[in-house]
Amino acid sequence: MTDLLTLRRPDDWHLHLRDGAALAAVLPHTARQFARAIVMPNLKPPVTTTALAAAYRHRILAARPAGSDFEPLMTLYLTDNTPTDEVDRAQASGIVAGFKMYPAGATTNSDSGVTDVRRVDEVLARMAELGVVLQVHGEVTHEQVDVFDREQRFIDDILAPMAERHPRLRVVFEHITTRAAVAFVRGARAGIAATITPQHLLHNRNDLFRGGLRPHFYCLPVLKTQADREALIEAATAGEPRFFLGTDSAPHDRRSKESECGCAGMYSAHAALELYAEVFEDAGALHRLEAFAADFGPDFYGLPRNAGTVTLVRQEWSPPAIYPLGGTEFVVPMRANGTLRWRQVVS
Ligand code: DOR
Ligand code: ZN
Repeated sequence: MTDLLTLRRPDDWHLHLRDGAALAAVLPHTARQFARAIVMPNLKPPVTTTALAAAYRHRILAARPAGSDFEPLMTLYLTDNTPTDEVDRAQASGIVAGFKMYPAGATTNSDSGVTDVRRVDEVLARMAELGVVLQVHGEVTHEQVDVFDREQRFIDDILAPMAERHPRLRVVFEHITTRAAVAFVRGARAGIAATITPQHLLHNRNDLFRGGLRPHFYCLPVLKTQADREALIEAATAGEPRFFLGTDSAPHDRRSKESECGCAGMYSAHAALELYAEVFEDAGALHRLEAFAADFGPDFYGLPRNAGTVTLVRQEWSPPAIYPLGGTEFVVPMRANGTLRWRQVVS
């Protein structure tokens, strides 16, 4: 049995860092494991321009722990009104790694998202020309579509036609949750990839209702069936370059989760690699964790793989019930008060 696991330093290809005190609270967790992260733009107000992204990037750099060389890869929030030349500004800035498309109303702070993908076709065409990556939250939002079917409907109604209209657009289908999404990505043309979160690999929708309503298992896209989960595990651990790591770690104050109308988001930054390591180990694929976590993401984005390594040791530990989130706020982490089997060795 392997007791020590040393990997090339990984990156997180989908992360929520928030801002202000929360940013300062969560960034050290990510920066101790990951060299870079794709930073989501769904702040209030959203990061819609290159200028806003540059300012946000400076706040992130300023919040890094002493000695950290963590590099935020910024994204811009696509709206119905994003001007085409914003793509040129973003590309010229050298700090923007892509544009994020949230269907309007799909999730936390997505009200300014895209109401109809056709409205951004010109912007997408320019992105394709310049090789700028599109990150998509892949869910339709119609009231009539069952919440568990929203990803599949997004593939059929929006993503597949969009990928055909823009044959050179590079697309990351983020936090995929279904067998249908795995099949779509596998069969898709070149230039389409997907990220997979630890929660969708470790949990199915039963966990939302285990002995009562469990708000800390509520995220979007919502957890799916065991069959979907198995398809995701198979995809993540098969060593296929189209599937790579993106935690979607999304901190919310405990009170906003344990509420009459609880926020979506699970917090995994405190133990992201440790959580993925359990999945890979249980699938007999620990030897493929490094490629999933550290190789396929940079290869897709056309960035160099990281220098340096991180090491995990087989050692049980228990994440605390809460971590501070700034001021009077606290976040309940994944596996709070439970047991993890791997632990990062911090030198
Ligand atoms: O669960 C989620 N939380 N899904 C998202 O898409 C957004 C995120 C957040 O920002 O809290
Ligand atoms: Zn997210």
